[in-house]
Amino acid sequence: MSEGLFDLTGKYALVTGGAQGLGRMIAEGLLRAGAAVAITSRNAQIAEDSAAQMRAIGPCTAYAADLSTPEAAVELVRRYTSDVGKCDILVNNAGKTWGGPIDSFPDKAWPGVMAVNVQTPFTMVRELLPLLRASGSGGDPARIINIGSVAGVKVERLQAYSYAASKAAIHMLTRDLAGDLAHDNITVNAIVPGFFPTKMTAHMRDEDKVDPSLLTHIPMKRLGAPDDIAGAVIFLCSRAGGYVTGAQLPIDGGLVGCG
Ligand SMILES: NC(=O)c1ccc[n+]([C@@H]2O[C@H](COP(=O)([O-])OP(=O)(O)OC[C@H]3O[C@@H](n4cnc5c(N)ncnc54)[C@H](OP(=O)(O)O)[C@@H]3O)[C@@H](O)[C@H]2O)c1
Repeated sequence: MSEGLFDLTGKYALVTGGAQGLGRMIAEGLLRAGAAVAITSRNAQIAEDSAAQMRAIGPCTAYAADLSTPEAAVELVRRYTSDVGKCDILVNNAGKTWGGPIDSFPDKAWPGVMAVNVQTPFTMVRELLPLLRASGSGGDPARIINIGSVAGVKVERLQAYSYAASKAAIHMLTRDLAGDLAHDNITVNAIVPGFFPTKMTAHMRDEDKVDPSLLTHIPMKRLGAPDDIAGAVIFLCSRAGGYVTGAQLPIDGGLVGCG
């Protein structure tokens, strides 16, 4: 193995929703690998507190942004570009779900979920293209990672209709963008998480006790851990993952692959 294969020293990363949950696990992993990381939260205090805690690991800056409109994504990129001026890695992690029985599943559960999970990632990519193009080279492309979901690959029966459709959409958008951006030396990949213990899956746990039927359902019989998701992101963002684009990488204890 050549030296520094997984090293991200000198790289600049932007992780949407990086203050909490899966995004925080990803941001901490990128920091540990040597990158400088910018994170976002809708709540300015949460963003700043999380960034302050993560500065114990490495350089971390905070942005408050509600990414439910394209205008907000444009404004975030404007602020980020003016402050940092470099982007080697974009992780579109911020995501929203809605669950409910089909007979009463409301129309309002569609536009917000599609906006945050599909349209915002697209706008983030479009607006960051000048910085990503400037970063990428043939030997070391710029990286875009979209966070998808097992629910967008196989039927999980979560009654999260708009969410599952939005995640299938982000997987396809990933491949479409990968095809268009390969000649710009930008890779675009999707990570497909299974079940991780975050706020989004809190209804499947009682405190730290996980519903046994969920564990039975997962071939490896455990939830995902921070190193599982961080390891996949570091791989895709480092020299080790420089020849991977248009892929959907399940980090799911076997749900997709063994299903
Ligand atoms: N947990 C899992 O098992 C699992 C499985 C598959 C996929 N995923 C995906 O992983 C990603 C992170 O989810 P999570 O599990 O960490 O859930 P979470 O704890 O509910 O976090 C959701 C994240 O998205 C951000 N967010 C939500 N709505 C937003 C908005 N309108 N504008 C800006 N940011 C917004 C939140 O930021 P603030 O609340 O700080 O504003 C938060 O960081 C999502 O894309 C989700 O679909 C999670």
